[in-house]
Amino acid sequence: MSNIVVFGSQWGDEGKGKIVDMLAADSAAIVRFQGGNNAGHTLVVGGEKCVLHLIPSGILHPGKICLIGNGVVLDPEVFLRELDTLAAKGLDVSPARLMVSKKTHVILSYHRALDSAREGSRSLGSKIGTTGRGIGPCYEDKMHRCGIRACDLADPELLREKIKSALEEKNVLLTKLYGCEAMDPEQVFQELLPFAERMRPYLGDVSTAIEEAVAKGGTVLFEGAQGTHLDIDHGTYPFVTSSTTVSGNAASGSGCSPRMLERIIAIVKAYTTRVGGGPFATELLDAIGDYLQEKGGEFGATTGRRRRCGWLDLVVLRESARLNGPTELAVTKLDVLSGLKELKICVEYEYRGSRIKHPPQEQNGMAYVTPVYETLPGWTEDITNVTSFAGLPKAAQDYLVRMEELSGVPVGLVSVGPDRSQTFTR
Ligand code: GDP
Ligand code: IMO
Ligand code: MG
Repeated sequence: MSNIVVFGSQWGDEGKGKIVDMLAADSAAIVRFQGGNNAGHTLVVGGEKCVLHLIPSGILHPGKICLIGNGVVLDPEVFLRELDTLAAKGLDVSPARLMVSKKTHVILSYHRALDSAREGSRSLGSKIGTTGRGIGPCYEDKMHRCGIRACDLADPELLREKIKSALEEKNVLLTKLYGCEAMDPEQVFQELLPFAERMRPYLGDVSTAIEEAVAKGGTVLFEGAQGTHLDIDHGTYPFVTSSTTVSGNAASGSGCSPRMLERIIAIVKAYTTRVGGGPFATELLDAIGDYLQEKGGEFGATTGRRRRCGWLDLVVLRESARLNGPTELAVTKLDVLSGLKELKICVEYEYRGSRIKHPPQEQNGMAYVTPVYETLPGWTEDITNVTSFAGLPKAAQDYLVRMEELSGVPVGLVSVGPDRSQTFTR
């Protein structure tokens, strides 16, 4: 096995968790390298469902080391709650196999308060539709160099001082700009203390843990969250998340060399979904959109919001291929397309009088493109029990082959149902 990076190639919720869970069986360590509990990764094993927001999707495999890298933003309360839920299921979540980097930035209550206040103050068309988990404000503090890091949780006096100092500025914003109540630094500190205490045994040096796993002959699986078009630089800015979601960040977000990244797997949903605001060129606001939404069970795993649905967009995927360098595609939810007479793939955009093959770079440019579609025949067969490429209906095979031709990336894995077992290699 090689080290593997799994990343989302669209706007998140492509099925990364399912594929990571499957690949974890052959890996020594599984690392989250960006994002926070804005993520919702769903694993289904033998019909039993488990949704993870922070803990790496390798946790269901006994003995695998699960690491949370420096590039993540971590809410201690959410982390500990998730840990307790997993422990109640009988899983080992001890510090012997679960580690949080001391360099990981911590989400506090004032980050969540600012996230909600900012969203609340935006006008209807300009709402990002964040998950309200404090992700953006926490990354802002990291860049502003006033963030609280996981290592600070072991130093109560430093923690108290940093919270006090952070709130001097934030309380001005909260009260004067957003009309919210001021937050009391001592109360924020006291509420955090019990979580900080419980977190301490989990704090460690993730970079060294990765090095050690590899030295023992193991391989590392890097688990991305969100998707390429939610990337802070390369996504549909400003309707994006606040982290770097592309594959290259697997190295800096976990503390290893980019030379370690070998197999790079783009997770691609066989159609497109998006949660929250922002342009979506191939969105279907008709019966087909409803069909995909219902059949695909497209509700957000974190906020429960209805996901917007649309046709597969190869402009989006082509851009993801350029930015992430995937060695293969893992196509998920192909089963959801069964029963549609015709399938459309967006191959280009029309934009300001020209045909373009990559998304426009101007702010909100994607809101002004017209998708150019190619139409392929659909299939009616239920494919949820198919176990090989050859076992797929001809039209489904052709759909995958067309994805390969248009993206220039081979299909390596195909997923035809939510369960771990409903996956096969090409
Ligand atoms: P992630 O955030 O990328 O891990 O994806 P989510 O877990 O948020 O959303 C993917 C959803 O699709 C989950 O409910 C999965 O259980 C489900 N899923 C994953 N792969 C397949 C598939 O091949 N077919 C079907 N029908 N569902 C799938
Ligand atoms: P996974 O890992 C889908 C979206 C939010 C919002 C925007 C910014 O499950 O694929 P944020 O709270 O991050 O500041 O919100 O990003 N978003 C996601 N959409 N899947 C996710 O994660 C997402 N994480 C954030 O809906 O539009
Ligand atoms: Mg998700």
